[in-house]
Parts: sequence; structure tokens; C-alpha cells
Amino acid sequence: MDKFVIRGGRRLVGEVEISGAKNAAVAIVAATVLADAPCRIENVPDISDVRVMTHLLEELGGTVHYLDRHTIEVDPRTIDTDTVRDQSAQTIRASYYFIGALLGRYQSAVVPLPGGCNFGVRPIDQHLKAFAALGGSCSMNEGLITVKAPNGIHGANIYMDVVTVGATMNTILAAVKARGLTVIENAAREPHVVDLANFLNTLGADIRGAGTDTIRIHGVQKLRGATYAIIPDQIEAGTYMAAAAATGGDVTVKNVTPQHLESITAKLEEMGAVIEEGDDTVRVVCNRPLRRCNVRTMPHPGFPTDMQPQITTLLSFAHGTSIINDGIWDRFKYVDELRRMGAQITVNRDMAVVEGVDHLKGATVRALDLRAGAAMVIAGLAATGVTYVEDVQYIERGFERIVEKLVGLGADIYRSQAPEGVALGKLG
Ligand code: EPZ
Repeated sequence: MDKFVIRGGRRLVGEVEISGAKNAAVAIVAATVLADAPCRIENVPDISDVRVMTHLLEELGGTVHYLDRHTIEVDPRTIDTDTVRDQSAQTIRASYYFIGALLGRYQSAVVPLPGGCNFGVRPIDQHLKAFAALGGSCSMNEGLITVKAPNGIHGANIYMDVVTVGATMNTILAAVKARGLTVIENAAREPHVVDLANFLNTLGADIRGAGTDTIRIHGVQKLRGATYAIIPDQIEAGTYMAAAAATGGDVTVKNVTPQHLESITAKLEEMGAVIEEGDDTVRVVCNRPLRRCNVRTMPHPGFPTDMQPQITTLLSFAHGTSIINDGIWDRFKYVDELRRMGAQITVNRDMAVVEGVDHLKGATVRALDLRAGAAMVIAGLAATGVTYVEDVQYIERGFERIVEKLVGLGADIYRSQAPEGVALGKLG
């Protein structure tokens, strides 16, 4: 029940440093299972989803040392089981990367069904299809996924029926040490897919074509250790860019890869922001009212679904009517929260029609999931009056030190902790 208290109406001005990419880090932590020597990983974001992944690695028998807040050293040689038992695996989505990684190491894996943000149905049929093509037989029992390949994992041609980040990454993990060649067609092209492939290639894997829709993996027998730095978080960067535009601010977002931000930059420019790209920075300046635009989410390099709630929030107080299509997830539930702040949005299945209002008004709203929670923070920063954002633990799954970073930009925001008894569920 911890909440953020935001007094809106302050322009964000200054510089903000972006952390390492959550969705790359969670896969790379799991990928260390495949290494035959210790690995040092730098630019690891200090967020709860990553801490769950490192905890699960330790539960498998691996050792994880934090050398500083953002650098971990992992020794996977002490891992001694193919089974993830810890139930914290059910609290996040990315725990399913241990299936691919353990399958690659032991030709067998037992992992609890994953959890993660609730966007309705989140199927894993493409993961299971790929494991089966590689020689695994899959079963699901009492909340556990079991994949066994008694004759070993072998290369295969796998066509993904939908563009899926998770199944592409899991197939890479399972195939890296397989016998022969694996080809993934219709693969996801997200920057975190490329980062996982680059990490594994640094260890000696032979993965080509990551970042295109065809990935070819020649299995290798051994992977060495290495030092590797995770890419900057595209969505965290986009969120601060959106917050800058929302408050008519002037913010330089540092430690980013501007090419990963192009779809977000294009939409913010269409809305009237001025964006200057440096080598590893983007500066967002917005000194005019925001204009309407239409947005359709797509796999990379299209506009990311993980930025949809933030951009919809901006459009809720832009001039004119905007149409947002998001067919990737059932992700418009947070619109009810925005309506409490005065937004005028109607939702019909995977489409939202947003009639821009003059301004949002402070209210008590909930963070329904990680990105929807970030959208509520943006709404609060732009609104008149005070906004209370509840259930902030969802936001902290993926945004490192968000309050500190926003305060550094001049926001009036603080975190209010529920009394201990409330946090432990002992009251009422
Ligand atoms: C990843 O989820 C991200 N999570 C999500 O980010 C992100 O929204 C999503 O990719 C899309 O970019 C992690 O990386 C941990 P998908 P993932 O498989 O891998 C369908 C965030 O906020 N599909 O790319 O689970 C699926 O229903 C989170 O950081 C199948 O049909 O997503 C969806 O419509 C939330 N069958 C589409 O594909 C499958 O077997 C894309 O899903 C798998 C997916």
C-alpha cells in the first residue's frame, strides 16, 4: 500500500541517467546458467524483477556477488539442479527464461508457471512449440512446466506464428548448446533480443542475425566467462521523455541508445516536442501545448506496447482527438484510473479514442501494472493539485529509483510508506 504523493504542475528540467534495460537483464541473468565459467555483468538495473532473477539463480546453486549497485559477478559452475523450486518464480514473467537456459545445460528443466503484469491471457504456446521442435517433450502439472529431452537438444527450423520476444529469447537459450543449426523465422527484433545474443556471443556462442527476423544459431559445446555491459533501458528512457513533454519541460536523457528510441521520438515530435539526439543522449524540449496524434503499437522497430499507457496519458491532455491501437496486450484497464483525473477516453477492445482535455486534475489512482503505473506518475506530474499513486511496488519492478530521478529534475514527488501493520496486512 505504499504510495507516491505528487504535487503536479512543475516543469521537469535537467539531466537524468537511464539504467540498464530490465528486459535484457532478466534474460541475461538466466543465460549465465549456460556459461562454463564466471561472468561479470555491468549496468544491471537495481529493480525488484532483477533481484527475483538473481535470487532464483542462487536457489539453483549459483553464486551471485554484487560488486557494486549495478555490477554482478555470477559463478554458474555450482548450479546443481534442473529444477526451479522457489515460488517467487511465479511473481514475474521472466522466470520462464530458466526453462530455455536449464534445457540448454541439462536437456531438462522444471520451472513454475510464470506470472508478471496482468494483461489478460499471456500464452506460451510458441515457447513450447520451439522446445518440442528442439527435441523436448513438454508437460504442465500442478503449476509446473516440465521439459525433458532424453535424446538431447538438437537444431531445428522454427517459424514463430506471432512475433514474440519471450519465445525468441527462450529458443536462443535452449539452442545455444544444441547439436547442429537452429533457425528462428519471424523472430522478434527488439534491442533486448540483440543484447541477449551479443552477451552469449561474447561467451563464445555462434548466433547470427539477431535484430533481423531470421536468427541462425550454430550450437557450441562450451561457453566461457566474460564481462558484459547491458544496454540502456529503452522504455525507462521513453518514459522520462514523455514526462518531459508532459510538463512542458527541458530534459536531457543520458546513457541511451537514440536509435532504440526512434519510434518514441517520432511520436513526441508529432505532438510538438523538439528533440535533439546526441551520441548517447536525447534532449526533449516542449514549450507549446501538445497536439493530438494516432498511435499503433507494433513489435520493434514499431511503437512499443510498453510505452502505450505513457503516450495515451500525454494525449489525454493534448489538443484534439487521438486514436490508440494496441493489439499486443489487453492493456487499457488503467484508463479508468485516468478518468478519475478528468481524462475523456473511450475504449473499444484494442482501441482507445482519446478526447484531449485542457488539463488533468489530481486524484487518488492505482498503479495497475508497471507501465500503467509509470503513466499515472506522468499524469500526476502534469495535473493540477495533488495525485496519490497507490500500489507503487508494480512501478518499482522496472523503474530504478524513480522518485530520486524525478526529484533531480525538479518534480515535487515523495514516497509515502504505509504503516507497518498495513504493509503486513495485519490491520482490518
Ligand atoms: C515481453 O513480454 C516483455 N517482457 C513485455 O514487457 C513486453 O510488453 C512484450 O515483450 C512485448 O514487447 C519481458 O521481456 C520480460 P511477447 P513477452 O512474447 O515476451 C503473443 C514490461 O512492461 N504470444 O513478445 O511475454 C502474446 O499474447 C513487460 O516490461 C503468443 O501468442 O511478450 C502477445 O500478444 C510487460 N504466444 C505477443 O505475442 C506465445 O507463446 C507478444 O508477446 C508468446 C506470445
